[in-house]
Amino acid sequence: MMTGKNTGGFYLTTPIYYVNDVPHIGHAYTTIACDALARWHRMRGDVTYFLTGVDEHGQKVQQAAERRGMTPIELCDEVVVNFRNLWEVLEISNDDFIRTTEDRHIEVVQHFFKTLEEKGDIYKGTYEGWYCVPCETYVPDGQIGDGNICPDCKRPLTRMSEESYFFRLSKYQDDLIKHYELHQDAIMPKARYNEVMSFIRSGLQDLSISRTTLKWGIPVPGDERHVVYVWLDALINYISAVNYPVPGKAWETHWPNVRHMVGKDIIRFHSVIWPAILMAMGLNVPVRVFAHGWWTVEGEKMSKSKGNVVDPFEMAALYGKDAFRYFLLREVPFGNDGDFSELGMVQRINSDLANDLGNLLNRTLQMIEKYRDGRIPGDCSLNCMNETDEALRRLAEKTLDDMDREMDGFAIDSSLKTLMALIRAGNKYIDETQPWKLGSDGSGERLDAVLRTLWEVLRLSAILAYPYMPSTAARMWAQLGLSGRVSEARHSSWQWGKTSGEIKVNRGDVLFPRIDVAVWRKEKAARDAAKKEAASVEGQVTERGGADQISIEDFKKLDIRVARIEAVDAIEKADKLYKLHLDLGFERRTIVSGIREFYKPEELIGKKILVLCNLKPAKFRGIESQGMLLAAETTLDGRELISLAVVDDDFPAGSPVH
Ligand code: ME8
Repeated sequence: MMTGKNTGGFYLTTPIYYVNDVPHIGHAYTTIACDALARWHRMRGDVTYFLTGVDEHGQKVQQAAERRGMTPIELCDEVVVNFRNLWEVLEISNDDFIRTTEDRHIEVVQHFFKTLEEKGDIYKGTYEGWYCVPCETYVPDGQIGDGNICPDCKRPLTRMSEESYFFRLSKYQDDLIKHYELHQDAIMPKARYNEVMSFIRSGLQDLSISRTTLKWGIPVPGDERHVVYVWLDALINYISAVNYPVPGKAWETHWPNVRHMVGKDIIRFHSVIWPAILMAMGLNVPVRVFAHGWWTVEGEKMSKSKGNVVDPFEMAALYGKDAFRYFLLREVPFGNDGDFSELGMVQRINSDLANDLGNLLNRTLQMIEKYRDGRIPGDCSLNCMNETDEALRRLAEKTLDDMDREMDGFAIDSSLKTLMALIRAGNKYIDETQPWKLGSDGSGERLDAVLRTLWEVLRLSAILAYPYMPSTAARMWAQLGLSGRVSEARHSSWQWGKTSGEIKVNRGDVLFPRIDVAVWRKEKAARDAAKKEAASVEGQVTERGGADQISIEDFKKLDIRVARIEAVDAIEKADKLYKLHLDLGFERRTIVSGIREFYKPEELIGKKILVLCNLKPAKFRGIESQGMLLAAETTLDGRELISLAVVDDDFPAGSPVH
């Protein structure tokens, strides 16, 4: 029998998303998963609170704003609308939406900073290290990849040195280990738990938590040359949103029950840094941090440059928000990586939603209309059920229990498999009981029992489907002739045969029309072609310099100078590369350049060319290249051509280019 036990409080958060770009399938995934969990807990009667929001400070946002010629807050105000709209489109039931530029948040960040400083857990020092701008994080020396690249995003690191405030993270190493040894389900899945534990055991260093090189952030109280490190700022959103530390406010109820849902890339921030800060503040650490996996798209990493970023608005518009939600939640074991394919989604919609769920509802209502004029007794007492009916009833009750357990463990995909097994059992039950035969030979009671059993399975299925597909569940509810709202159903109604009185069904449109795959393929090809064309128009605009604009400040960062080519060496076993020896006036340098097939050495020696001098050095074939020459390139009659950017012979080497 369904326990429907109330677990007390359930406070669930998504990461707060960077507003440097539009929302994509990764953002949609985390938020949809949280929405299903929050709705599930509300149905159980748990005191539920669901938070999402946006991360608006930091270098990434500042740079994105510069690129677009806007102030950071102008960019934030523009991009935040996309997130809010998407959550509306996807029917996300968040109780609050936080922006880190709001006063209510800024005050709490400054309160944290002051309190930790007073406690001696924050101190001032100097930081020098390799910084990853896209990840907004310093990378410890031991983790830097070959060629100074970030171990996570694989992009080049920048050397930075600055006065900084530090958080005594090292002090909390043992407390963290003790805590996680006692609470082994505080980090899930297990593989992530092990990964975090070995990271903590390998030794924690104090954490730089302020920046002087950046303006777009929350000022450090009492030392406004510094802004608070964006990750510290961001993590605090989870507690500032519930009005910490105001006595009597929501945080007192919700904080002891907080669970964070994150992508696997940001697990350490949430399960090492954040709990240590909370420990230092004397606050509860999160009950659970769950890291889900990442989506690739048709087998490839999703990236703007590949043009394969999945737009959740488009998917919801094409397939319906519930089908999109269902696919994301059902397709991949929650916690694992997954691959998104539109064809996979179409197949999933056809098999599970059209063939199984939609069909069960449609067949049942059709029979109720045909044989019983749309009406069946509501109080079909349990004693009119035979063993076949009882078996289905037992399965339905077990389904409730199993799904509850699975949702407790955030095994969202498994819970949907369990629900679909019940739906399939309902369809099988129709095939076995053959109600059309009972209808024609007039055995009234038996037909009532069968239709009533099916109707009951559908009523329970609507309740169970609601957290994942809220609109679909509401449509099922209305078609089944139920009053009130499915969203208001609580575990008290999760019992077999709870309805009394006559039931009058209202059959409506089919829930999920089958998608004709042949037609879909043609439409998809047309869509892809239109997208390609749009991208190429955009590309042409970019080539003409019309689109992706940069500011003059960006341009000033480039140190381009005149250099004289003194000597040219061919590089062995690299038939495209030359090693060029350059005189830059103030120093000599070598660069490696792929111009060998276009120029002979004698055509180069003595030429005055333009070189980007402050490009980070990189190694090619073991030779360090200390800059990059500038050249125009084009393709003519299928042949690649280049032309070096040269200046007049008598122009001095080392002259800057503006
Ligand atoms: O990290 N598949 O924000 P964010 C699945 N502001 N998930 C993906 C994904 C993909 N392909 N790409 C990204 C931040 N994500 C910080 C969080 S919280 C205090 C601060 C997920 O906008 C990623 O794993 O870069 C992360 O959980 C989330 O999108 C937000 O990413």
